[in-house]
Amino acid sequence: MASEPHTLTSRTLTIRRPDDWHVHLRDGAMLHAVAPRTAAQFARAIVMPNLSPPVTRVEHAIAYRKRIMAALPEGTAFTPLMTCYLTDDSDPAEIVRGFREGVWAACKLYPANATTNSAHGVSDPARIRPVLEAMQRAGMPLLIHGEVTDPAIDIFDREAVFVDRVLTPLVRDLPALKIVMEHITTAQAVDFVAAAGTQVAATITPQHLHLNRNALFAGGLRPHAYCLPVVKRETHRMAVRAAAVSGSPKFFLGTDSAPHTPGAKESACGCAGIFNAPFALESYLQVFEAEGALDRFEEFASEHGARFYGLPLNAGTVTLVRDTVRVPGHVAGVVPFHAGEMLAWRVAAT
Ligand code: NCD
Ligand code: ZN
Repeated sequence: MASEPHTLTSRTLTIRRPDDWHVHLRDGAMLHAVAPRTAAQFARAIVMPNLSPPVTRVEHAIAYRKRIMAALPEGTAFTPLMTCYLTDDSDPAEIVRGFREGVWAACKLYPANATTNSAHGVSDPARIRPVLEAMQRAGMPLLIHGEVTDPAIDIFDREAVFVDRVLTPLVRDLPALKIVMEHITTAQAVDFVAAAGTQVAATITPQHLHLNRNALFAGGLRPHAYCLPVVKRETHRMAVRAAAVSGSPKFFLGTDSAPHTPGAKESACGCAGIFNAPFALESYLQVFEAEGALDRFEEFASEHGARFYGLPLNAGTVTLVRDTVRVPGHVAGVVPFHAGEMLAWRVAAT
């Protein structure tokens, strides 16, 4: 389908309303603080299930979806797409039922202890083989946090090793399973996804387009640049940028916005996660402009993901205006990505 709404002038870019294919909306007070930010920028979002306790059952997802909608201003047009947190004990029948009933859009596989609230994750994908086979039969996407947890593997290599040790055999053994490798950060992940069949895709965050690992240590230790997978060397950042602007339908927008309180970040043991929701589109656009690819932004933000998931493209548009915007030091009590920096675009009020 042609991308009708797209118009680019010297001062504005109008695109079909975009979606965020990977976000952490949290729960309770944090949910109320952050969900309106995502809903202001995106029509739909794939909502991560790593709450405490995690979203493992259909009823949990239905109740969480209601809490998300209750956290938004009356009348907000936003659709949360719920995900099921896989554990070693996940039941294939329950998962397929939730998918068929339209509650779950996908399942999320966290290797046990890979990241925030992943203690109940999967200890070995071989243990959930019947679940993965049922998902393959049902056409239900598997979203993967692609890092090994082996402490003997250098943290900067954990994604590349995951591609070799886990993803390669998984794609070989379940060739029709739809897989999204989430928040890719390395040239190895880009190459793997690009070379795989059309059933394999990847999301890309703003931070992995903007930052290399020097950002973690720029003038001192920088907890607000810390997320998982951790930002990598410059060569990897360049590979991820090239993938994002390539026009390949395998790569699409997923912010991985992951808010934590300032206290939880600025700590002797700071949490992983970058809160990029408030200026997500502006942040991505900065990259697409620098790469001379503004005309490719709409497909990355509003088309490739929906097509991969087999969902309709959104109606309606959003307009971005060339205008200097200063990102505040705090948004909703959380330090946002780009805090204190100037960005070159802003979302026009609708
Ligand atoms: C996420 C979180 O805080 O929930 N953190 C992050 O650094 N991305 C978890 C995750 O997606 O790994
Ligand atoms: Zn995430």
